[in-house]
Amino acid sequence: MNDKAKPELQNTTFLDACARREVEYTPIWIMRQAGRYLPSYQEVRSRVDFQTLCRTPDLVAEVSVQPVEQLGVDAAIIFSDILVLPEAMGMELTMVENRGPVFPAPVRNAADFDRLHAATPSELQFVTDGIARTKKALAGRVPLIGFCGSPWTLFTYMVEGHTSRNFSVAKELMFREPELTHRILGTLADSAGAYLAAQVAAGADAVQIFDSWGGVLSPPAYREFSLAYLERAINVFNRAAPLILFSKGAHHALSALSQSGADVVGVDWTHDLGSVRRAVGAKVAVQGNMDPTTLFAPPEVIREEARRILGEYGTAPGHIFNLGHGILPETDPEHAKALVSFVHEESRRFHAVEGGKER
Ligand code: CP3
Repeated sequence: MNDKAKPELQNTTFLDACARREVEYTPIWIMRQAGRYLPSYQEVRSRVDFQTLCRTPDLVAEVSVQPVEQLGVDAAIIFSDILVLPEAMGMELTMVENRGPVFPAPVRNAADFDRLHAATPSELQFVTDGIARTKKALAGRVPLIGFCGSPWTLFTYMVEGHTSRNFSVAKELMFREPELTHRILGTLADSAGAYLAAQVAAGADAVQIFDSWGGVLSPPAYREFSLAYLERAINVFNRAAPLILFSKGAHHALSALSQSGADVVGVDWTHDLGSVRRAVGAKVAVQGNMDPTTLFAPPEVIREEARRILGEYGTAPGHIFNLGHGILPETDPEHAKALVSFVHEESRRFHAVEGGKER
């Protein structure tokens, strides 16, 4: 690629940072930025249920653009959910108010799995239509990120049937029937890789894989049941666009993640960002890593934390600022907005001073 990504975009800082090019300020977006903490999202949700929202491209575009207009983030993420993929494979999905997503008939044995099929991108056309519609609504203001769940993370929901505290049902199946587990994960990896490529074909400028529950596995189990299928999905995706791999809690796997074919590795707030950069910064860009609860603090504390994190990463290119996990529904949107401007202001100063010294 040449020195600037996608000239049709007005703001390329996010894509430049993904490619570890020099930027004037550190780009920021926020995981789960389109969601319940925003009154404008709540307003849309008061009219339609979650699943209808996900399937209505005009509404998908409306809520995906909200954080761009209200917070000033440097990238949009398409409004959808990781669980639309198992749903497309044939699993019934219900959203239970105040409980979250539920699969009433979870996968517990080979017969359950054999009733499902590998999802093709055409079965998720409502997502690709939503992407095309959102690209239009963005009109080049910022790039758009597509996403999917990691095979292991999707497996935990498909087997448990809902959000879990200790993943005992999913892990029990993994230990009892490793061959079936590998078969399920393989199908998920191939479907996820093709799904991400279809999102790029529809207009997504980058993609992220959410390996939200990779960190609950021991290092050898992680390599066998999560990492191997992240790599398989990335291979199928075949470098269609910059890819961010967010593997929460996978401290032991940083080096492997940096060699997985991902362009960016996302880390949670339990990492020291300077150590992460020194460990993998020569190979990949790094995304993260503010503790989401920091946004409950007064603005001056948020600014101090933003400054600390920027300072830990240092002046090397390749930092994308983000929270270390999704923004919490109780967050004051004004605090999220303040974070975005603090990161822009502080990093601009930082890049100007340090860049000037170096040149
Ligand atoms: O980031 C964004 O702004 C895009 C939208 C997005 C949603 N879900 C919307 C959503 C993204 C990227 C996701 C990913 C997702 N979904 C993950 C991985 C990310 C992570 O935080 O680890 C997971 C594990 C899910 C599964 C899921 N969907 C759960 C556990 C829940 C209920 C709890 C919760 O966080 O709200 C959902 C529902 C969901 N997905 C909502 C939203 C805005 C809330 C639904 C509502 O409006 O009531």
